[in-house]
This record gives sequence, C-alpha cells and structure tokens, in this order.
Amino acid sequence: MVTQYKPIKVTPLSRFVGAEVSGVEIARGLSDQQFLELRQAFVKHSVIFIRNQNITPDEHIEFAKRWGEISVNRFFQAVDSHPVIAEVRKEAHQKLNIGSTWHTDHSYDQVPAMGSILYARVVPKLGGDTLFSSMYAAYEHLSDGMKNTLLRMRAEHSSRHAFGEAAYIGLDEVEGRLSNAAEATQDAVHPVIIKHPLSGKSALYVNGEFTVKFEGWSKEESQPLLDYLYSHAYKNEFTCRFKWTQGSLAIWDNRATQHCALNDYDGEQRLMHRITISGGCLEPSRS
Ligand code: SIN
Repeated sequence: MVTQYKPIKVTPLSRFVGAEVSGVEIARGLSDQQFLELRQAFVKHSVIFIRNQNITPDEHIEFAKRWGEISVNRFFQAVDSHPVIAEVRKEAHQKLNIGSTWHTDHSYDQVPAMGSILYARVVPKLGGDTLFSSMYAAYEHLSDGMKNTLLRMRAEHSSRHAFGEAAYIGLDEVEGRLSNAAEATQDAVHPVIIKHPLSGKSALYVNGEFTVKFEGWSKEESQPLLDYLYSHAYKNEFTCRFKWTQGSLAIWDNRATQHCALNDYDGEQRLMHRITISGGCLEPSRS
C-alpha cells in the first residue's frame, strides 16, 4: 500500500555532502511525488540517510528497483535466498571489516555502479560509523593547473588485488564473507575527472581501494600523484560522518562520493545489507 503524499524533510549534514531525510516509510511504499523528492535530495546531497525503517529483504529489493537495475556484487556473501543482496558483515571474533579503505563501489567494473543502498540490520553499541566524501568538492578545490592536467587523464581500476586469489591467501577471516576470487579478472579504465550524468558537474573519480595507476603511466609514476589526490579528496571538510542505528538506510551516489567504513568496534557484530544499482559508462568532463 502506498502512503498518502507527504512532503519529505531534508536536513543537510555538512556543507558539501550528506543529508538526513525524514517523512518516509519505505515499507509502506513511496508515492511518485515522494520518490521524486527523494531523488532530488540524492542528486543535491550525493548521499541521503533515512532512519527507523523496518524493511524485509523483499522490500529492500523493491525499493532498490525504483532507482534502477540491480548490479549484483560477485565477491560479497549474498543473503540466503536473496542473491541480489550483499552482506557487509563483521562478527564479534573477526578483526577485519569490509570497506575500511576509502573507495567507491564497483569502480573496477567497465560499467560501474551508479549507487548503493545500505540497510543496517545489526550495529555495534558504539562505533562502526561510515564516512562519505564529496568528489565534487574534491575536484572544485584543486588548482586550475591540476584540474587541466587531470581532465586529460584516465586511470585503471581493478578488483584483482582486493578480491582476487592473492588477496585471500592466509586470510581465514574472509571465510563466509568474501568468495569467487577467481572472478576478480576484470579491469576497467575510466576518466580521472568524470562529468556526472545526473548533475552535469565534474567529479574526481580515482579511489584508494581500486585505482591501480594512470593510463600510460607506470605504477611508480602514478602513486605519488594518486596519494596526493587521496589526501586532498578525503579532507575532513569535504566529508560527513553517519552514525548508524539499527534500521537506518543510506543511499549514496558512487559517482559523486567515496566512503570508508570505520573499524572501531572489536568484539561486537555489525551486519548490513547492501544492494548496488547499475550505472552507465562514465564520460570525461571537459571543464
Ligand atoms: C561498503 O563499503 O559498501 C560498506 C560500507 C559500510 O559498511 O559502512
């Protein structure tokens, strides 16, 4: 049943990225007008958060399909009987968490994900927050000289080092959380500065987890510039921090943000369900 139309309330969390949205109950369905407003908030703030949702995996999937086609993650453990939902899980006895290096989801795919919808099922009493950074702000605050250099460049992204056989060796910890190492074979080349398909704005598109090097450059040549770009892109002032409560849901734009899951809750469980939404090929920005 779709609820009667009520305008949603959008409260920004920081200057450049993130907003909390209230007035939405996903389990009851959203009217077209409410969904339009949610989409506008998503485009404007790049990541939106909705608290106190009580949704089943089927409702999560139904909601995700309103945003686009689902892109199934091939490395994360899937939820039993719902193979399109990826589990982001850390048990109390495990030390490593998933997603602790700044990244954007699926940048190793030739057609990377447009967004991700993460739903909190079990959260630690304290910790386990997620940081988001605005790649529009990162681009905007570069010098004109650096912008002009990067506008002509492309970078190579890969899942091999993160999810391939070599990444798994000796890591009992990934048991039951990550699999399909043999499928970590696809590499992708994307513009370093993309033109965002929804906003038309320029955004920095290299990330600390999956970007390997610049096209036509060696790894040794690439790393110093990549390191500079990361230290710039993840500056506190371009970020927001979300403190999860059970039942919170985040919808982020993988082409306008990067995120990093904090691993500061040893001894406690954290379990999130993630659905990733397909995007299109990325176009270079011209300015
Ligand atoms: C992810 O990197 O997709 C997961 C983020 C999180 O667990 O907060």
